[in-house]
Amino acid sequence: MILITGATGNTGRELVPQLAKSGRPVRMLVRDERKVAHIPAHVERAVGDLDKPETLAPAMRGVEKVFLVTYETQQDANVIEAARRAGVKQVVKLSTLEAEEHKIQVGKWHYEREQLIRSSGLEWTFLRPGMFMSNAIEWWASSIKEQGAVYFPGGKGRVAPVDPRDVAAVAALALTQPGHCGQVYALTGPELLNIKEMVQIISQVLGRPLRYADIPPLAAKLFMLRSGMDRELVKALMEMLRSLRKNEGAILTDTVEQVTGCRAGDFETWCRAHVKFFRTTGD
Ligand SMILES: NC(=O)c1ccc[n+]([C@@H]2O[C@H](COP(=O)([O-])OP(=O)(O)OC[C@H]3O[C@@H](n4cnc5c(N)ncnc54)[C@H](OP(=O)(O)O)[C@@H]3O)[C@@H](O)[C@H]2O)c1
Repeated sequence: MILITGATGNTGRELVPQLAKSGRPVRMLVRDERKVAHIPAHVERAVGDLDKPETLAPAMRGVEKVFLVTYETQQDANVIEAARRAGVKQVVKLSTLEAEEHKIQVGKWHYEREQLIRSSGLEWTFLRPGMFMSNAIEWWASSIKEQGAVYFPGGKGRVAPVDPRDVAAVAALALTQPGHCGQVYALTGPELLNIKEMVQIISQVLGRPLRYADIPPLAAKLFMLRSGMDRELVKALMEMLRSLRKNEGAILTDTVEQVTGCRAGDFETWCRAHVKFFRTTGD
């Protein structure tokens, strides 16, 4: 049995159907079952919360492998404890590319969690993806729909955004094939793009002009604080933006292809598959 945490998230929602198709027994850990009502019934559900250790033991029953998506180190600790007790063999953890150097806070957070898993006695595989292509929906879809514009302090920094479907494909192999334990996979898309170039690609796919405003980082900070985001998280995201603007995120790997045998999907292909999220009724 494979337990998928974060099953309703960017990666998990791609991973569940990929594993379900393979016919293996799969269980999703979900906080709200209604969110997975569309998933075929042969995929098991366990209602639980990573912050509530008492909910994890029933979810782990009979589980051999766990796909782990967390936001706090204590959540990793809770899962490790429950996994050990249940006799789980391997954890495939969704980490981040910034954990490679673990210089900035988001990298430090994930690196700390990786260390916890390394010392747990469980077998592990770490997936370290760069920026998800799906962030374009989270960050920009509403201003694209409402104003035909993207406001983001990206500067000229480049990243190689990765398609969550590719991250899920690597996870699926790590969870089902031998040879992935003890491996650390830095996962990026196939091309380095700056934010302006990403906006241009969305614009081409949408078939209407979009404006990109490279706003001052302070404006983004104020926006995040006003929208009620946690101060520590805002500090970490600001550090990440500084790193992006200094072009420190310009890292390209071919790990997706090495592991899956298929070239990583590019941003234009991802945009074509997700264009509905950027469309208004007039498009
Ligand atoms: N976005 C990026 O560019 C990027 C890049 C590299 C690494 N990462 C890392 O990827 C991870 C996020 O993965 P994602 O983007 O696939 O997920 P996501 O879209 O952020 O969704 C979060 C998932 O975690 C679940 N979740 C949140 N809190 C939970 C809790 N207390 N108990 C149980 N489930 C909980 C959510 O379930 P509900 O439906 O119940 O909310 C949802 O399924 C983070 O660790 C992030 O640092 C992100």
